[in-house]
Amino acid sequence: MNSEARKSIHGTWTGRWTFILAAAGSAVGLGNIWKFPYMAGEYGGGAFVLVYLACILLIGIPIMIAEILIGRRGRSSPANSMSYLAKEANTYPQWKILGIMGAVAGLAILSFYSVAAGWAISYIFEDFSGPSAEYYGEEFNAFLADGTKLVIFHSIFIFVTVFIVARGVIKGLEVWINRLMPLLFIIVLLLCAYATQTGAFFEGVSYLFTPDFSKIDATVILAALGQAFFTLSLGMGAIMAYGAYMPANQKIGSTALSVAFLDTLVAILAGIAIFPIVFANNLEAAAGPGLVFVTLPWAFVNMPLGLIFGKLFFVLLSIAALSSAISLLEPGVAWVVESLKTKRYVAAAALGLIAWTLGILSALSFNLLSDFTPIGDRNFFDSMDFLSNQILLPLGGIFIAIFVGWIMKRENVLEELEIKEGWVLKVWYFLLKFLSPVLVGVVFVAAVFFGVT
Ligand code: TRP
Repeated sequence: MNSEARKSIHGTWTGRWTFILAAAGSAVGLGNIWKFPYMAGEYGGGAFVLVYLACILLIGIPIMIAEILIGRRGRSSPANSMSYLAKEANTYPQWKILGIMGAVAGLAILSFYSVAAGWAISYIFEDFSGPSAEYYGEEFNAFLADGTKLVIFHSIFIFVTVFIVARGVIKGLEVWINRLMPLLFIIVLLLCAYATQTGAFFEGVSYLFTPDFSKIDATVILAALGQAFFTLSLGMGAIMAYGAYMPANQKIGSTALSVAFLDTLVAILAGIAIFPIVFANNLEAAAGPGLVFVTLPWAFVNMPLGLIFGKLFFVLLSIAALSSAISLLEPGVAWVVESLKTKRYVAAAALGLIAWTLGILSALSFNLLSDFTPIGDRNFFDSMDFLSNQILLPLGGIFIAIFVGWIMKRENVLEELEIKEGWVLKVWYFLLKFLSPVLVGVVFVAAVFFGVT
């Protein structure tokens, strides 16, 4: 039975564009505006960016197609879609575990993502009148030291996420995203325009785009790979869950390309906006997670109408984070609703509570629990980030690639993709069957066992 005949019990996106918007809403978030710039700064600028772009193109896009395909053909939560497709392919029912692992990874990510989203929310109340860029550095550190404040903003964010998922993603998302996402895009463009006025535009841009090949090692590649999965929302079933609600007549390949293109564009523009500000003010490119929260407020101080743009920017960033967080909770919630026949709001509240509890540990890892370092010398927040992005997502990605590339019947794949035999299909199959599993596997083993600390 193809996906024409099957429909998800959770509903279907109403229009052609809605899937793209929802998937782009999931993809575009803190990963683009907060994480991409600071990782680029930490891992050497152009070298990181180059590897990151290669990972998006060669591994991210093929796996995104595979995820949408599984979701749309399975028409259920990732766990149950995997079960259905495993049956269709006459193979082990244990493939379902991939979906369950994904739901768990989603909660792990949501827990620390929400703490970072809380930072964005708190900057809405900033008045953008500080005396210097350093001032914003000190302010961010003072904020991190305030555990209570972090927990409060984290709680607000989780609460709103749970509320929307409880009402149903389709109802909750469609109304908002198509109006607000374009606005965020415009403000990022505006920041880029400001960056041209800083006097260090060229320096910033060449930092991003001039790769120093000697800086590329297993650690940088693993970080770029993890970031490629993270920014495209891949490897844990978020895009799979959304794929289940995708209309049957929509082409999967071109849709995945549009989503990946939009997502990459926003990340690169954020980098172009931020690095000139970093260099013009002699800030540290490798400053870590605080980077945007130091550079951008200072940009708003100096920009005409900065107060309005600043507030609007952080409102929109919070909403972009929200539309991503929703997709982290949805796979688990859809699965609980399907298997335990609970009400949506019960499932959303229960899973939200788990993420909230874990998130408290993340919020306190910058202050009370700063000596607690579960992985290497990382605090709890960084450990969760490392564990999910650099281990769980790539691992999930390998298995998704193997399942669609090696286990699913070629005719079923073709039917779902609505594509004919030809070179496009050949390239995609090659990337999925050989390149992604091998590359991800090698980088992964190299980095995890030989020297990532
Ligand atoms: N892609 C989002 C961002 O860039 C975060 C995100 C949402 C995510 N859903 C995901 C990351 C699923 C990994 C997996 O902010």
